[in-house]
Amino acid sequence: MKFQVASGKTLSARVDAVAVPIFSDGADSAIVRQADLALGGLLKDMRKRGEFKGDVDEVAVLPAGKRTAAKRIILVGLGKRSDFSTGANAKFAGLAVRAAARRNLSSVALALPESARGDDRETGELIAEGATMAAFDPAPYKTKREKLIGVVKSVTLIAPDAASVAELKKGAVRGTILGEMANAAREMVNAPSNDMRPTHLAERAKAFGTKHGFKVTVLERADMKRMGMGSFLSVAVGSDEPPKMIAMEYRGDPASKRVLALIGKGITFDTGGISLKPSANMEAMKGDMAGGATVIGAMSAIARLKPKANVIGIVCATENMPSGHATKPGDIVRAMNGKSIEVINTDAEGRLVLADGLCWARKLGATHLVDIATLTGAVVVALGNTTTGVMSNDREFVDLFHDAARPYGERYWELPLFPEYAELIKSSIADMKNSGGREAGTIYGAMFIKEFVEDAPWIHLDIAGTSWTDRDDGHLVKGPTAVALRPLAHLAELFAQRSLHSKADNAAHERFVA
Ligand code: BES
Ligand code: ZN
Ligand code: MN
Repeated sequence: MKFQVASGKTLSARVDAVAVPIFSDGADSAIVRQADLALGGLLKDMRKRGEFKGDVDEVAVLPAGKRTAAKRIILVGLGKRSDFSTGANAKFAGLAVRAAARRNLSSVALALPESARGDDRETGELIAEGATMAAFDPAPYKTKREKLIGVVKSVTLIAPDAASVAELKKGAVRGTILGEMANAAREMVNAPSNDMRPTHLAERAKAFGTKHGFKVTVLERADMKRMGMGSFLSVAVGSDEPPKMIAMEYRGDPASKRVLALIGKGITFDTGGISLKPSANMEAMKGDMAGGATVIGAMSAIARLKPKANVIGIVCATENMPSGHATKPGDIVRAMNGKSIEVINTDAEGRLVLADGLCWARKLGATHLVDIATLTGAVVVALGNTTTGVMSNDREFVDLFHDAARPYGERYWELPLFPEYAELIKSSIADMKNSGGREAGTIYGAMFIKEFVEDAPWIHLDIAGTSWTDRDDGHLVKGPTAVALRPLAHLAELFAQRSLHSKADNAAHERFVA
C-alpha cells in the first residue's frame, strides 16, 4: 500500500472512495457539508432518522453522486468533539481503509478531521500509521487468501491548504515507518511457535539489523553458560530448541554515555514448564514473545528514524517446556549478577529470563532500562485488556514514557512498588523466589525484576492483557496489537532531546513511592 499527502479539493480526488470524518456534535465542517451536497442530502436524512449519528466506530459506505469524481463516500463517525484525541486519527484512517477493502475499493482519499488541526506533523503520522496498520494480514496461513488483504493499493491524505502539506508529509514518513515496523512485530507475534522459534527471532533481528543499520549480537547456550546466565538457562534447559539472547545496538550519539535499553521477553512458547499450564487457551502462549517482537520492531523503527541517542535492544528468547531435563519447582539457580533464585513455579519464567537480560544490558552500558513483557495473568485481572501495567523506580523517566505514549491512544496505568511488597518474593533458602502466591501478582513480578536493575532508572511494562485483541477496532484487527512499539520508538526520540536528572532525584522518588 502506498500512502501519500496531496492538497486540493477532497471530493474532486480521482479515487474509488473518499472518507469523510464526522463528529456527532457541533457544527459540520465544510467537507461534511460538501459530502452531504454530493449525496443529495442523504446524510442529513440518515441523521434525522437516526441511521447515522457520527458516533465512534460508525461507518457507512454510500454511492457518491454522479458529479463526484469518487465512486463512493465513506462516512466515518468520530464521536464527540471533546473526546477526540490525536490517537483517534489512526482509528479514523484504519476504519476507512478496512471499509474500503471490504467493498473492493482500491484507492482511498482521506479528508483531514478538522479538530485534528494543531500539530499537523503528529496528525499526518497517526493517519499514516492507522492506514498502514489497517493493511495488516492476520491470516497468512489461509490457502484461500483473506479477500480483504492487498485490496487497498493507495491512500491519499488530502491537506485542506497547501501550507500544511509539508508538515503532514513529514508526519506521514514517520507514520509509514512506525506502521510498517508495528506490522512486522505483529507478524512475529501472530506466527505459531513452530514458525517462530528463538532461532527465527534471531534471524529477524539480524535481517532488520542489516536492512536498517544496527549491530546484532546473538549469544548461544554455551556463551550464556560461560557468562553465568543461570536464571535464563533454567528456563531454556527444558527445551531442545537452541535459546538465543539477542542484542541490537544503535549508536546515534557516540559522544554520549547515556544509553537507553529496551529488554523484551521472548518466550516463543510458554507451556508453563513442569508447573504445566491447563490446556484451555494454551495456544495463546505462542504470543509470549510479544515483548521481544516489540523490541525488534522498535529498534528497527529507531534505526530508521535516526534519533541522536544510543539505544540497545535485548530479546531473551527461549521456549518454556517440560521435559526430562527441565527445571523443577524448588530448584535454585543463580543469575549473572550472582543472586540466587528459588524457582517455586516454573510458569513464572518471564522474570527469570529478563533477570539475565537486564544484567547483560547493564554490562553493555545501559544507563536507562525499559523492560516489556507478557508477564502476568494478574495484570488482566487488575487492568483488563485495554490498559498496560506500568511500574517504575523513577518518576522523571516514567513521566518521559507517558509523554512518549500520549499521541498514540494506548492506555497505560501505574501500579506501586512499595517496599512492603518485597516480602512476597522473600525465600527462606535463597536471595529470592520467583513466585509469591496470588496476591499482587503483577507487582511482585516487577519487584523481582527490580532486583536486577541496580540503581538505574527503570520502567516495567506488563503487556499480558494488551498485546493481543479479541476484536476488530479501528486500525487493529483481532490478533496482535504491537502495543507500546510506537511509544518506545518515540521514547528514544524524547530521550535524545531531554536531559534526565541525577541519582539524587532518584532517591527522592524512592521516598515518594515509599
Ligand atoms: N506468559 C504468562 C503470563 C500470561 C498470561 C500472558 C495470560 C498472557 C496471557 C506468564 O509466564 C505466566 O505464566 N505467569 C504466571 C505467573 C505466576 C506463576 C506467578 C501467571 O500469571 O499465572
Ligand atoms: Zn510466560
Ligand atoms: Mn509462564
